[in-house]
Amino acid sequence: MIDQPIQYNAEAKLRLHFRGVMRVYISDLKDHVGKTVSLQGWVYNHRSSGKIKFLLMRDGTGICQCVYFRGECSDEAFTDFEKLTQETCVKVTGMVRAEPRSPGGYELSARELEINAGSVDYPISPKKHGTDFLMNQRHLWLRSKRQHAVMRVRAEVVKAIRDFFDGRGFTLTDAPIFTPSACEGTSTLFETKYFDEKAYLSQSGQLYMEATAAALGKVYCFGPTFRAEKSKTRRHLIEFWMVEPEVAFNDLYDNMELAEQFVEFVVQRVIVKREEELKTLERNVEGLKKVKAPFPRVHYREAVAMILKENPAFIDGNDFGGPDETIVSSKFEQPVFVHHFPSAIKAFYMKEDPKEPGYSMSCDLLAPEGYGEIIGGGQREDSYETLVRKIEEHKLNIKDFEWYLDLRKFGTFQHAGFGLGVERTVGWICGTQHVRETIPFPRLYGRNYP
Ligand code: 4AD
Ligand code: MG
Repeated sequence: MIDQPIQYNAEAKLRLHFRGVMRVYISDLKDHVGKTVSLQGWVYNHRSSGKIKFLLMRDGTGICQCVYFRGECSDEAFTDFEKLTQETCVKVTGMVRAEPRSPGGYELSARELEINAGSVDYPISPKKHGTDFLMNQRHLWLRSKRQHAVMRVRAEVVKAIRDFFDGRGFTLTDAPIFTPSACEGTSTLFETKYFDEKAYLSQSGQLYMEATAAALGKVYCFGPTFRAEKSKTRRHLIEFWMVEPEVAFNDLYDNMELAEQFVEFVVQRVIVKREEELKTLERNVEGLKKVKAPFPRVHYREAVAMILKENPAFIDGNDFGGPDETIVSSKFEQPVFVHHFPSAIKAFYMKEDPKEPGYSMSCDLLAPEGYGEIIGGGQREDSYETLVRKIEEHKLNIKDFEWYLDLRKFGTFQHAGFGLGVERTVGWICGTQHVRETIPFPRLYGRNYP
């Protein structure tokens, strides 16, 4: 059905215009107690009972209850109220009152109601909807309270990430999205055209960060990355955001120290700054409060021993599946590092530990409560000859990596770094069931809409 726009209440608009009422945001109502102001937003909920009508409106900064009393508001407002439907766009004018029982702590004793645009048959109601339905309505679903909370936590996580690295002398050196080659294995590359050549969407900015680390010492990139993974798990997105620091002269152990301080910083910042949102999400933050460096560290072989006790089918030498990660992480209250994965299951750039042949100087960080791997990283191979051999063993095209090999030709250096996935981190902090709720418009296997 085509939405019929409701006519502007021209008279009400005119009256307000002449009174010169100030337009404010719901989040700022505390500064206007006792004053007459206007709010603009959308109808969240509304109900009438005789002489009194209640409008819950939202403007993106909060929710405010607006109370219309017959006799105290204009007659037009009282009549127009009956035209309201969920998500009608409105302007409300009234006097601000402190009201502890009201959501947000303030209320409007409403005088005028101006209907700016109608909303017919809004598809999302307070009743439970199936996830597939909600994902199809993602553009509207974002208007819901729970989704607001997740988006605000995400924004805070992003800000905390930037503040941490900017505050420690790192330089932001963002990596390209179009790339000529694989970083994390060819099986999950998205191929596209770059004029007459082939190109791939970036799986990771790491290789470029290794170049900028040689230029600027401590660097990071932060942007979207892409993996053509045909997996429908609660942890996998096709497009996700990753922050990737890289530090010249760090080794594996420095790398884990940086990672744990970083994760502590992000989590502690968010639980202080987004307390309200975490309450809305009914997130128990007691566990999160304990996220303090140092984190426990477990060698791959120790982790395998833990897994075998509960999953005897696991094969030593393999990578962990989600349930295997949960077995390991459930033994700890803190996030836990697993380090020294077999070289055979890690990317070509990982340095093999000279003291432990067959094992790489890699580390993954597993979040508690079954949220799984949120960080992957390690120390990089810095020998030219070894790297050439690894590139050949992985059947990668050496020509594509000439520039990368230059970094080992011209003053090669010990260095390490990691990548943290934003959505998995937000999912863990918010306690969401699935990463799809942690990004405004998720790209999933089987979903590229809306
Ligand atoms: O472990 P990954 O693949 O590591 C890298 O890409 C390294 N090059 C990073 C580096 O050292 N600079 O990915 C890093 C993190 C994972 O721990 C996870 O949090 C996230 O990126 N991630 C995903 N998040 C959502 N959906 C996916 N399909 C993801 N794949 C990885
Ligand atoms: Mg990984």
